[in-house]
Amino acid sequence: MLKIKNLRKSFGKNEVLKGVNLEVKNGEIAVIVGPSGGGKTTLLRCINGLELCDNGSIEIGNKYLCENGNYKSKEEFNEARRDIGLVFQNFNLFPHMSVLENLIEAPKRVLKKSDEEAKKKAEEILSFLGLGDKLESYPHELSGGQKQRVAIGRALALNPKLMCFDEPTSALDPGLTGEVANLIRSLAKDGMSMLIITHDMDFATKVADKIYSMNNGTLLDGNFYTVSK
Ligand SMILES: Nc1ncnc2c1ncn2[C@@H]1O[C@H](COP(=O)(O)OP(=O)(O)OP(=O)(O)O)[C@@H](O)[C@H]1O
Ligand SMILES: [Mg+2]
Repeated sequence: MLKIKNLRKSFGKNEVLKGVNLEVKNGEIAVIVGPSGGGKTTLLRCINGLELCDNGSIEIGNKYLCENGNYKSKEEFNEARRDIGLVFQNFNLFPHMSVLENLIEAPKRVLKKSDEEAKKKAEEILSFLGLGDKLESYPHELSGGQKQRVAIGRALALNPKLMCFDEPTSALDPGLTGEVANLIRSLAKDGMSMLIITHDMDFATKVADKIYSMNNGTLLDGNFYTVSK
Protein backbone atom coordinates (compact mmCIF):
# COMPACT_ATOMS: atom_id res chain seq x y z
CA MET A 1 0.00 0.00 0.00
CA LEU A 2 2.78 2.42 0.91
CA LYS A 3 6.40 2.19 -0.24
CA ILE A 4 8.96 4.76 0.74
CA LYS A 5 12.48 4.58 -0.59
CA ASN A 6 15.47 6.64 0.48
CA LEU A 7 13.37 9.65 1.48
CA ARG A 8 15.36 12.78 2.27
CA LYS A 9 14.22 16.14 3.52
CA SER A 10 16.12 19.12 4.88
CA PHE A 11 14.99 22.39 6.35
CA GLY A 12 17.89 24.70 5.47
CA LYS A 13 21.01 22.97 6.77
CA ASN A 14 19.05 20.72 9.08
CA GLU A 15 18.63 17.30 7.45
CA VAL A 16 15.51 15.94 9.12
CA LEU A 17 14.95 12.77 7.04
CA LYS A 18 18.17 10.96 6.19
CA GLY A 19 17.14 8.30 3.70
CA VAL A 20 14.01 6.72 5.17
CA ASN A 21 12.76 3.36 3.86
CA LEU A 22 9.36 2.02 4.88
CA GLU A 23 6.76 -0.37 3.55
CA VAL A 24 3.21 -0.72 4.87
CA LYS A 25 1.13 -3.57 3.46
CA ASN A 26 -2.64 -3.71 2.96
CA GLY A 27 -4.43 -3.89 6.27
CA GLU A 28 -1.20 -3.53 8.21
CA ILE A 29 -0.85 -1.28 11.24
CA ALA A 30 2.60 0.30 11.40
CA VAL A 31 3.55 2.40 14.38
CA ILE A 32 6.50 4.78 14.62
CA VAL A 33 7.87 5.75 18.01
CA GLY A 34 10.93 7.80 18.85
CA PRO A 35 12.28 10.88 20.57
CA SER A 36 11.02 14.41 19.99
CA GLY A 37 12.52 16.11 16.95
CA GLY A 38 13.42 12.79 15.29
CA GLY A 39 11.45 13.62 12.13
CA LYS A 40 8.24 11.62 12.65
CA THR A 41 5.77 14.41 11.87
CA THR A 42 7.91 15.56 8.94
CA LEU A 43 7.75 12.04 7.48
CA LEU A 44 3.95 11.98 7.86
CA ARG A 45 3.66 15.43 6.26
CA CYS A 46 5.79 14.29 3.29
CA ILE A 47 3.60 11.19 2.82
CA ASN A 48 0.52 13.41 2.84
CA GLY A 49 2.04 15.89 0.39
CA LEU A 50 1.92 18.73 2.93
CA GLU A 51 5.69 18.96 2.74
CA LEU A 52 7.78 18.29 -0.39
CA CYS A 53 10.76 15.99 0.00
CA ASP A 54 14.18 16.63 -1.53
CA ASN A 55 14.90 13.11 -2.70
CA GLY A 56 13.58 9.56 -2.67
CA SER A 57 10.28 7.98 -3.69
CA ILE A 58 6.83 7.76 -2.15
CA GLU A 59 4.53 5.21 -3.77
CA ILE A 60 0.91 4.95 -2.61
CA GLY A 61 -1.00 1.98 -3.99
CA ASN A 62 0.52 1.92 -7.45
CA LYS A 63 0.71 5.68 -7.82
CA TYR A 64 3.83 7.73 -7.24
CA LEU A 65 3.44 10.86 -5.16
CA CYS A 66 7.11 11.44 -5.83
CA GLU A 67 9.67 9.38 -7.74
CA ASN A 68 13.39 9.84 -7.08
CA GLY A 69 12.77 13.32 -5.78
CA ASN A 70 10.61 14.33 -8.76
CA TYR A 71 7.05 15.44 -8.39
CA LYS A 72 5.15 15.00 -11.62
CA SER A 73 1.94 16.70 -12.65
CA LYS A 74 -0.47 18.23 -10.15
CA GLU A 75 -3.06 15.67 -11.30
CA GLU A 76 -0.84 12.69 -10.45
CA PHE A 77 0.14 14.26 -7.16
CA ASN A 78 -3.50 14.78 -6.19
CA GLU A 79 -4.46 11.29 -7.41
CA ALA A 80 -1.85 9.70 -5.16
CA ARG A 81 -2.84 11.87 -2.20
CA ARG A 82 -6.50 11.01 -2.58
CA ASP A 83 -5.97 7.57 -1.09
CA ILE A 84 -4.53 8.89 2.17
CA GLY A 85 -6.35 10.22 5.19
CA LEU A 86 -4.63 12.20 7.93
CA VAL A 87 -5.81 12.71 11.49
CA PHE A 88 -3.97 15.60 13.12
CA GLN A 89 -2.80 15.64 16.70
CA ASN A 90 -5.16 18.46 17.67
CA PHE A 91 -7.92 17.15 15.38
CA ASN A 92 -8.20 20.41 13.33
CA LEU A 93 -12.00 20.21 13.12
CA PHE A 94 -13.78 23.16 11.49
CA PRO A 95 -15.13 24.95 14.59
CA HIS A 96 -17.94 26.79 12.81
CA MET A 97 -19.34 23.61 11.25
CA SER A 98 -21.50 20.94 12.84
CA VAL A 99 -20.21 17.37 13.12
CA LEU A 100 -22.17 16.37 10.01
CA GLU A 101 -20.89 19.39 8.06
CA ASN A 102 -17.32 18.55 9.07
CA LEU A 103 -17.74 15.17 7.38
CA ILE A 104 -19.45 16.28 4.16
CA GLU A 105 -17.33 19.29 3.25
CA ALA A 106 -14.39 17.46 1.64
CA PRO A 107 -16.37 14.68 -0.09
CA LYS A 108 -18.45 17.39 -1.80
CA ARG A 109 -15.49 19.59 -2.67
CA VAL A 110 -12.84 16.98 -3.46
CA LEU A 111 -14.83 13.96 -4.60
CA LYS A 112 -17.65 16.10 -6.10
CA LYS A 113 -20.29 14.10 -4.27
CA SER A 114 -23.84 15.40 -4.11
CA ASP A 115 -25.08 16.82 -0.82
CA GLU A 116 -27.41 13.86 -0.40
CA GLU A 117 -24.75 11.25 -1.14
CA ALA A 118 -22.20 12.88 1.16
CA LYS A 119 -24.74 13.13 3.99
CA LYS A 120 -25.75 9.50 3.67
CA LYS A 121 -22.16 8.29 3.87
CA ALA A 122 -21.36 10.70 6.74
CA GLU A 123 -24.35 9.44 8.73
CA GLU A 124 -23.23 5.84 8.22
CA ILE A 125 -19.71 6.64 9.40
CA LEU A 126 -20.87 8.64 12.42
CA SER A 127 -23.23 5.91 13.47
CA PHE A 128 -20.41 3.34 13.11
CA LEU A 129 -18.27 5.58 15.34
CA GLY A 130 -21.04 5.82 17.96
CA LEU A 131 -21.77 9.47 17.19
CA GLY A 132 -25.19 9.05 15.61
CA ASP A 133 -26.70 11.43 18.17
CA LYS A 134 -24.10 14.18 17.61
CA LEU A 135 -24.73 15.08 13.95
CA GLU A 136 -25.89 18.60 14.73
CA SER A 137 -23.43 19.27 17.57
CA TYR A 138 -20.52 21.67 17.14
CA PRO A 139 -16.92 20.69 17.99
CA HIS A 140 -16.86 22.81 21.17
CA GLU A 141 -19.82 20.81 22.50
CA LEU A 142 -17.90 17.51 22.28
CA SER A 143 -15.53 15.71 24.63
CA GLY A 144 -11.92 15.05 23.57
CA GLY A 145 -12.67 11.44 22.68
CA GLN A 146 -15.71 12.47 20.64
CA LYS A 147 -13.69 15.11 18.77
CA GLN A 148 -11.09 12.46 18.04
CA ARG A 149 -13.75 10.19 16.55
CA VAL A 150 -15.14 13.04 14.42
CA ALA A 151 -11.62 13.69 13.13
CA ILE A 152 -11.27 10.00 12.26
CA GLY A 153 -14.73 10.10 10.66
CA ARG A 154 -13.80 13.10 8.57
CA ALA A 155 -10.75 11.26 7.21
CA LEU A 156 -12.83 8.11 6.59
CA ALA A 157 -15.40 10.09 4.58
CA LEU A 158 -12.82 10.34 1.79
CA ASN A 159 -12.49 6.54 1.51
CA PRO A 160 -8.75 6.39 2.18
CA LYS A 161 -6.71 3.22 1.68
CA LEU A 162 -4.09 4.46 4.13
CA MET A 163 -4.84 6.39 7.30
CA CYS A 164 -2.12 8.36 9.06
CA PHE A 165 -2.38 9.43 12.68
CA ASP A 166 -0.05 11.87 14.43
CA GLU A 167 -0.21 11.23 18.18
CA PRO A 168 -3.82 9.98 18.18
CA THR A 169 -3.95 9.54 21.93
CA SER A 170 -2.00 12.56 23.17
CA ALA A 171 -5.09 14.71 23.71
CA LEU A 172 -7.11 11.88 25.26
CA ASP A 173 -7.80 10.64 28.70
CA PRO A 174 -5.65 7.51 29.25
CA GLY A 175 -8.83 5.44 29.64
CA LEU A 176 -9.81 6.23 26.05
CA THR A 177 -6.66 4.93 24.39
CA GLY A 178 -7.93 1.35 24.43
CA GLU A 179 -11.05 2.53 22.62
CA VAL A 180 -9.00 4.22 19.91
CA ALA A 181 -6.86 1.08 19.59
CA ASN A 182 -9.98 -1.03 19.07
CA LEU A 183 -11.36 1.37 16.48
CA ILE A 184 -8.08 1.39 14.52
CA ARG A 185 -7.91 -2.41 14.67
CA SER A 186 -11.45 -2.79 13.36
CA LEU A 187 -10.69 -0.47 10.43
CA ALA A 188 -7.51 -2.40 9.59
CA LYS A 189 -9.47 -5.65 9.63
CA ASP A 190 -11.48 -4.29 6.70
CA GLY A 191 -8.21 -3.86 4.77
CA MET A 192 -7.32 -0.26 5.52
CA SER A 193 -3.62 0.34 6.19
CA MET A 194 -2.56 2.46 9.13
CA LEU A 195 0.53 4.50 9.88
CA ILE A 196 0.58 5.82 13.41
CA ILE A 197 2.98 8.05 15.30
CA THR A 198 2.87 7.88 19.05
CA HIS A 199 4.88 8.38 22.22
CA ASP A 200 2.59 6.02 24.07
CA MET A 201 4.33 2.61 24.13
CA ASP A 202 1.38 0.94 25.81
CA PHE A 203 -0.90 2.09 22.99
CA ALA A 204 1.75 1.15 20.41
CA THR A 205 2.01 -2.45 21.59
CA LYS A 206 -1.80 -2.71 21.80
CA VAL A 207 -2.41 -1.62 18.24
CA ALA A 208 0.67 -2.38 16.12
CA ASP A 209 1.52 -5.15 13.73
CA LYS A 210 4.97 -3.59 13.42
CA ILE A 211 6.74 -1.01 15.50
CA TYR A 212 9.45 1.18 14.02
CA SER A 213 11.67 3.52 15.86
CA MET A 214 12.72 6.85 14.40
CA ASN A 215 15.73 8.64 15.73
CA ASN A 216 17.57 11.61 14.29
CA GLY A 217 16.10 11.22 10.79
CA THR A 218 16.65 7.47 10.51
CA LEU A 219 13.99 4.77 10.71
CA LEU A 220 15.00 1.44 12.18
CA ASP A 221 13.89 -1.65 10.28
CA GLY A 222 10.56 -2.93 11.52
CA ASN A 223 11.61 -6.57 11.29
CA PHE A 224 13.73 -5.75 14.24
CA TYR A 225 10.62 -5.47 16.35
CA THR A 226 7.61 -7.43 15.18
CA VAL A 227 4.72 -7.59 17.59
CA SER A 228 3.30 -11.02 18.20
CA LYS A 229 -0.38 -11.17 18.94
N1 LIG B 1 8.56 23.71 8.80
C1 LIG B 1 9.75 23.53 9.38
N2 LIG B 1 10.76 24.41 9.20
C2 LIG B 1 11.97 24.22 9.76
N3 LIG B 1 12.27 23.17 10.55
C3 LIG B 1 11.31 22.26 10.77
C4 LIG B 1 10.01 22.39 10.21
N4 LIG B 1 9.25 21.34 10.62
C5 LIG B 1 10.06 20.58 11.39
N5 LIG B 1 11.29 21.13 11.48
C6 LIG B 1 12.43 20.57 12.23
O1 LIG B 1 12.56 19.21 11.86
C7 LIG B 1 12.95 18.42 12.97
C8 LIG B 1 11.98 17.26 13.13
O2 LIG B 1 10.70 17.74 13.48
P1 LIG B 1 9.42 16.80 13.56
O3 LIG B 1 8.27 17.67 13.87
O4 LIG B 1 9.36 15.99 12.33
O5 LIG B 1 9.80 15.88 14.80
P2 LIG B 1 8.92 14.80 15.57
O6 LIG B 1 9.71 13.52 15.53
O7 LIG B 1 7.55 14.78 15.04
O8 LIG B 1 8.94 15.36 17.07
P3 LIG B 1 7.78 15.30 18.21
O9 LIG B 1 7.86 13.91 18.76
O10 LIG B 1 8.25 16.33 19.19
O11 LIG B 1 6.48 15.63 17.58
C9 LIG B 1 13.01 19.35 14.18
O12 LIG B 1 14.35 19.71 14.38
C10 LIG B 1 12.21 20.56 13.71
O13 LIG B 1 12.68 21.73 14.30
MG1 LIG C 1 5.68 15.25 15.84
